[in-house]
Amino acid sequence: MTTPRPAAVIVLAAGEGTRMKSATPKVLHSIGGRTLLGHAIAAARGVDPHYLAVVVRHGRDLVAAHVAVVDPAAVVADQDEVKGTGRATECALDALPADLTGTVLVTCGDVPLLAAETLRGLLEAHLASGSAATVITATLPDPSGYGRIVRAADGSVSGIVEQKDATESQREITEINSGLYAFDLAVLRAALAKVGTDNAQGEKYLTDVLGIAVGEGLRVSAHLIQDLWQTEGVNDRVQLSRLGAELNRRIVEGWMRAGVSVIDPSTTWIGVDVTLGRDVMIHPQTQIYGASTIGDNVVIGPDTTLTDVEIGDGAAVIRTHGSLAVIGAGATVGPFSYLRPGTELGVKGKIGTFVETKNAQIGAGSKVPHLTYVGDATIGEHSNIGASSVFVNYDGVKKMHTSIGSHCRTGSDNMFVAPVTVGDGAYTGAGTVVRKDVPPGALAINVSPQRNLLGWVQRKRAGTASAQAAAAAGEDSLIVPEDSATVPEGNASA
Ligand code: UD1
Ligand code: CA
Repeated sequence: MTTPRPAAVIVLAAGEGTRMKSATPKVLHSIGGRTLLGHAIAAARGVDPHYLAVVVRHGRDLVAAHVAVVDPAAVVADQDEVKGTGRATECALDALPADLTGTVLVTCGDVPLLAAETLRGLLEAHLASGSAATVITATLPDPSGYGRIVRAADGSVSGIVEQKDATESQREITEINSGLYAFDLAVLRAALAKVGTDNAQGEKYLTDVLGIAVGEGLRVSAHLIQDLWQTEGVNDRVQLSRLGAELNRRIVEGWMRAGVSVIDPSTTWIGVDVTLGRDVMIHPQTQIYGASTIGDNVVIGPDTTLTDVEIGDGAAVIRTHGSLAVIGAGATVGPFSYLRPGTELGVKGKIGTFVETKNAQIGAGSKVPHLTYVGDATIGEHSNIGASSVFVNYDGVKKMHTSIGSHCRTGSDNMFVAPVTVGDGAYTGAGTVVRKDVPPGALAINVSPQRNLLGWVQRKRAGTASAQAAAAAGEDSLIVPEDSATVPEGNASA
């Protein structure tokens, strides 16, 4: 049997979302690294519909632009000034081919935990029962706010009544309308034409379609599901965070079942688009977002945030903040590293403590171990950058590039004043300000000879702890160098 494809999925996303109290349209708020609408679209795509339509109105341009990015093939349908879920659905049908037939699923843009498998279950139940309409329902301990499923004496669904239109006894019903449906398209079209706005909210309700179908002698079914999270919509930021935490719990649990060790699931956040290899070990307080891809046997955390980072097998990334970076297999990063966009660390390379990198390609086996900024640079293979160095990439106007070869050993406290090139196998001395290219194999130094002004502390800092320590060490305070008078005082200050 081939898997049935619905003619269309319609995602309703025109509502205002006032309770979010946000300048951002509700469906563009995110959980798990994906917008609410992105989740709804992903679930809809999961049943492989011939058409996918998203109904927009509030924040129209922002929402339409987002749809164009996440699903360029989706049809954006504009809802007019007539309010209600029924009108929204009608506007979607108007944007789809007029001769379309078959099954149409209707979902909500603000129900992010709905899974594609649940929609598939709805579709299959709908087709198997030969119903004109099937609605996903759930039984809630507190059904207030939701539309209630009204059943006839024989248990069959006779319609849906909104909370605001319900009688006292109807409000006692605990089976609620999830707002997720399957319809026969011809029935839906004909019934919507008959739906009015004579109700407590003056809106054109999609829910009225079910009662109309029943009135015409058609079969209407309820598809009761147990996983209440999948029917919960986001109305305010409290729900946004609750659903975000539940989504994360599901994602983290899924990765643990797939072979990832997570020491503390409650402080580990993993986005929906992240992929993790086998035997990855995640320590507490770690967030992995975006399209990050993590290889096998990688150790991440504690206290690490990675967005759009690619990590090769066996690497370790500890107490690090990184985005748009590539970390080679077997490499080590951190603790306390900051990887900015364009960082590429080669196989078995090292980016160490208090190191910041940006637009920097660091070759295989090369190390930047301590207290260094590497910006706009290329470092070859198996080179070592001395502690406390700065790739001086900015002249106040433009950014320039530094190139360090392979097998170089640069001294501590170097400044590489870009644009500058250090050839393969070259060395630089400690404290070098590298302003000129260094040929391969050369040693670059530019410090002036050191002078020791003997007895200086005893003369200029008499009585201090330093002077006492010097005296105790056997310093001969009587030696007075000839050039002492010409040394500026400031040179010896701390
Ligand atoms: C709706 C249902 C209710 C159900 C509940 C589930 C109706 C009349 N009622 O109620 O039975 O229990 O969902 O959450 O359908 N939307 C539009 N255009 C509109 C109005 C809404 O696109 O004019 C969209 C919203 O963006 C949202 C969805 O439809 O994605 C549901 O809208 P909402 O206002 O939350 O409907 P409820 O009144 O909660
Ligand atoms: Ca709602």
